[in-house]
Amino acid sequence: MNFLELAQTRRSLRTYLDKPVEREKLEYVLETARLAPSWKNMQCWRFIVVEDAAGRAALAETMGETNPGRKALTGAPIVIVLCAVPKESEIWEGKDFMMLDAGLAMEHLVLAATEQGLGTCWQGLFTEQKAREALQIPEDVRVLAMTPLGYAAEERRPRPRKAMSEIVFHGKWGRE
Ligand SMILES: Cc1cc2nc3c(=O)[nH]c(=O)nc-3n(C[C@H](O)[C@H](O)[C@H](O)COP(=O)(O)O)c2cc1C
Repeated sequence: MNFLELAQTRRSLRTYLDKPVEREKLEYVLETARLAPSWKNMQCWRFIVVEDAAGRAALAETMGETNPGRKALTGAPIVIVLCAVPKESEIWEGKDFMMLDAGLAMEHLVLAATEQGLGTCWQGLFTEQKAREALQIPEDVRVLAMTPLGYAAEERRPRPRKAMSEIVFHGKWGRE
């Protein structure tokens, strides 16, 4: 699978099989996150691997009842929680590079999971403080996102994307 095919294959998947993830695959996806680029190579990211059912249920409780991702956290055998240490990144000209750094690392993981035949789903809509309490995360660490990780029990059609002409400009801002 070349990189374009990988990007085309990835979906946000919210239902999972009751099937464990091989340790090598877990370590593989985490290794790709570890290798991500970051502001001044400060690597602000931290990942918490939550495999016990009680921990995953506690994380699901941090999400609104109508969030479609909620059931994914209890259904998948693993939840990966993306944290970041703000003092290991910087805000420069108002740009919070921590968010870019952590997002890059997480997307490495997500795409590596796709390559390994595993499903994921970015989750952003949760109450950060509840997630902190559930996993004993210190107050000075941000809890930015999470994803289920496992074998998906569903196939999904691709969601629509903007046309290339809407998002890519040449030479200067805007279309000719
Ligand atoms: C930062 C971020 C946060 C997201 N948060 C949630 C979420 O809380 N719940 C959910 O079900 N999906 C969530 N998603 C998944 C998006 O809804 C999904 O990526 C988008 O609809 C495109 O679909 P696709 O990923 O299948 O291409 C999130 C995605 C991103 C990148």
